[in-house]
Amino acid sequence: MKASILPLLGLIAPSYQQMLRFSCSQLLITRLDPLVTPGLPQSPHVHQIVGGNAFNVSMDTLTHDPAQLSSCTTCTFAEDFSNYWTQVLYFRARNGTFKRVRQFPNVGLRSDGGMTIYYIPPYDGVSRVTAFRPGFRMLVGDAMLRDKDGMQPQLCHRCLGEDPYDVVGAPCLGPGDSVELPTKPCPGGIRTTVTFPTCWDGRNVDSPDHKSHVAYPKDGVSFEMGGECPESHPVKLPQLMYEVMWDTRPFNDPELWPEDGSQPFVWSTNDTVGYTQHGDYIFGWKGDSLQRALDARCANSVCRELRTQTTEEAMRCTLPQNIPEDVDGYRSLLSFRFCCRECWDR
Ligand SMILES: *[C@@H]1O[C@H](CO)[C@@H](O)[C@H](O)[C@H]1NC(C)=O
Ligand SMILES: *[C@@H]1O[C@H](CO)[C@@H](O)[C@H](O)[C@H]1NC(C)=O
Ligand SMILES: *[C@@H]1O[C@H](CO)[C@@H](O)[C@H](O)[C@H]1NC(C)=O
Repeated sequence: MKASILPLLGLIAPSYQQMLRFSCSQLLITRLDPLVTPGLPQSPHVHQIVGGNAFNVSMDTLTHDPAQLSSCTTCTFAEDFSNYWTQVLYFRARNGTFKRVRQFPNVGLRSDGGMTIYYIPPYDGVSRVTAFRPGFRMLVGDAMLRDKDGMQPQLCHRCLGEDPYDVVGAPCLGPGDSVELPTKPCPGGIRTTVTFPTCWDGRNVDSPDHKSHVAYPKDGVSFEMGGECPESHPVKLPQLMYEVMWDTRPFNDPELWPEDGSQPFVWSTNDTVGYTQHGDYIFGWKGDSLQRALDARCANSVCRELRTQTTEEAMRCTLPQNIPEDVDGYRSLLSFRFCCRECWDR
């Protein structure tokens, strides 16, 4: 395993300048999931969502094009009306109440909450990738997963040190990365990474599980643009990746941690271990803007091919919750309204 990763790390460095890396501020925090529970006015767990403001309880593949229906976006690139979302992290106090952990801006970026989005072209610096098509969506991870068995290496938590620039290793391959939540206080907060598949069947913009129309390359490692796609999914996509910076720093005092030595953070899926990490994506770039940016090998948040907006403009784009819910106070376990799959299968 180690031996196969090292050459890959060597390939990452030169391409670092060629990936789109930009911030998207918070659009809203709410209990909606148009991908997994479309039409359900309250999804089983709370999500944090960024991107275009056409996000809604249902977003049909054929009729709901975020690029057409949105009037603003929380992302740096003004033509990106996609929606990107993950679950939310809570701190569990000794008295059993929960407080949402806020997000903070990633190194070198500005945002109000939200997350950092990457679209990464192949490391060879020349080969082309095919941008997602209108209606495209996908899901990575499993909100019901409670065992390490089945946990994928493309999802991880990184325990950050005090120096934000002191980051070692590619996402999910560094010494501080784990599929589980860190078990010790992290002086610089916790960064979570969600890395999506990069091979597509070339036909379907979605599939019943929102996963089988895409695949990871055959070598199956995390930072995988160098890998060959399986024959079933021959079309190479840009590598979509999310980074979420959770500001766990206000909760690092050992006096606040559980007496039994366990760690106090819990995903909104009621998961204290970390295996339920997942990320959702609905494509919504206007016209061929993403393809143009990928072909031009735009770097970071600078791209002559794309229209950008200021952080202030991005932050002005917000969406009210469909069902108002206080997501920021200390709350009791009961008010979580955790639910299981049967609740919406019935
Ligand atoms: C969300 O969808 C409902 C219909 O299901 C519609 O009435 C509402 O305007 C939509 N909201 C937004 C922000 O598009
Ligand atoms: C529980 O603990 C938190 C953090 O110490 C505190 O802010 C909150 O008021 C407490 N809530 C109750 C109901 O005791
Ligand atoms: C959440 O998980 C804890 C165990 O970590 C369990 O005791 C509790 O019943 C769960 N709550 C719900 C609503 O499922």
